[in-house]
Amino acid sequence: MELPGGVVVWAITHHDTLQTLLADPRVGKNPRLWTTFREGRLPEGWPLTNFVSVPGMVTADGDDHRRLRGLVSQAFTPRRIAALAPAIEARTIALLDRVAELEGEFDLREHFAYPLPMQVIGELLGLALEQQDRLHELSDTLVSSSATPAAAVAAQRDLNALLASVVAAKRAAPGDDLTTDLIAAREAGPSTDRQQLSEAELVGTLLLMLVAGHETTLNLITNAVRALLAHPDQLQLVLDGAQPWSAVVEETLRYDSPVGQFPLRYAVEDIEVGDVVIRRGEALLASYAAAGRDAGHHPDADRFDLTRQPARHLSLGHGPHFCLGSGLARLEAETALRHLFGRFPGLALAEGRTNEPIASFVSNSVRTLWVTVRPAG
Ligand code: HEM
Repeated sequence: MELPGGVVVWAITHHDTLQTLLADPRVGKNPRLWTTFREGRLPEGWPLTNFVSVPGMVTADGDDHRRLRGLVSQAFTPRRIAALAPAIEARTIALLDRVAELEGEFDLREHFAYPLPMQVIGELLGLALEQQDRLHELSDTLVSSSATPAAAVAAQRDLNALLASVVAAKRAAPGDDLTTDLIAAREAGPSTDRQQLSEAELVGTLLLMLVAGHETTLNLITNAVRALLAHPDQLQLVLDGAQPWSAVVEETLRYDSPVGQFPLRYAVEDIEVGDVVIRRGEALLASYAAAGRDAGHHPDADRFDLTRQPARHLSLGHGPHFCLGSGLARLEAETALRHLFGRFPGLALAEGRTNEPIASFVSNSVRTLWVTVRPAG
């Protein structure tokens, strides 16, 4: 398929093929494997530049990948995530207290689905509350594949500058957060014969944690609420206790993947896939949303069905780059949904409002989710 700027890639849309290629050692993520990148043929201000070239674990393979992922993975162990549960619960309740004060129709994405994951990742990274909205605005431009080249370049520049200023502030006044831990890892110097973390990798890792840590969970909560409100029979199954909230989270991940497609991977050598050959140096796009609706893998794929046993999907990735924050995302989404519907059982989609899709093929959700706390009439 052709991406913006006339960049041609292979979109991998079938579940089984995607699963195989995500774990195939003949597929890498270092952009230097990509002929178009190496030859400098990407258009100036290409909106996905950051995805392919941000220095960090998403664009690294092998030892480099293990080194970069290893530096943050201790913060995401099941034990560390479980320890965050009470704080996530408290944030959820506080946000819903504010939602309860809103009158008439309101945008649930803006008032609930966004602030929850942003505050959680903000606290993990040690970001001040007053920085968070600006970071979100810049991060939104970054994940939008429809930004103009000038806007994309400006957002990348401003986001890097803002995160560099966060690093400078933490250097001066260390905190109890992941940013401070990363600075300490960098300042511990080369562990063996290689630099443990370069300054660019430090900022790149923060950028990745910020974007991956909130844009995705924001979409998951939005997409889950939207699906439940459009399928009241399925919502009733959970409210009656016949299905757990975790089933909603897993089925939403499959049915409406928060990450529509993730750029990019590259063939390290020629790879035969069915009756085509992906040539060495060509690029692959992981099409998670399409794989979730692959009728060859999921019977009756277009049906939102909480009783699927089990709701297998690839929407958190697979293989060495499997989502580092999957436990956190699941915990946040389950907590959010349980409290939201517990508190507002009469939640309904606002009538006469349309919720436009986000103009991006990376971020898959709607720009707004207009709801009312009580059904009209
Ligand atoms: C619903 C929420 C989430 C979804 C759907 C999601 C999805 C994904 C997917 C599909 C990948 C693989 C990308 C690829 O290489 O193709 C990924 C990787 C990653 N995710 Fe998530 N994610 C979510 C939440 C989070 C959270 C909350 C964090 C961090 C706090 C996070 C951090 C990461 C990181 C660091 C990677 C890169 C791992 C690596 O390259 O080794 N994600 N995620």
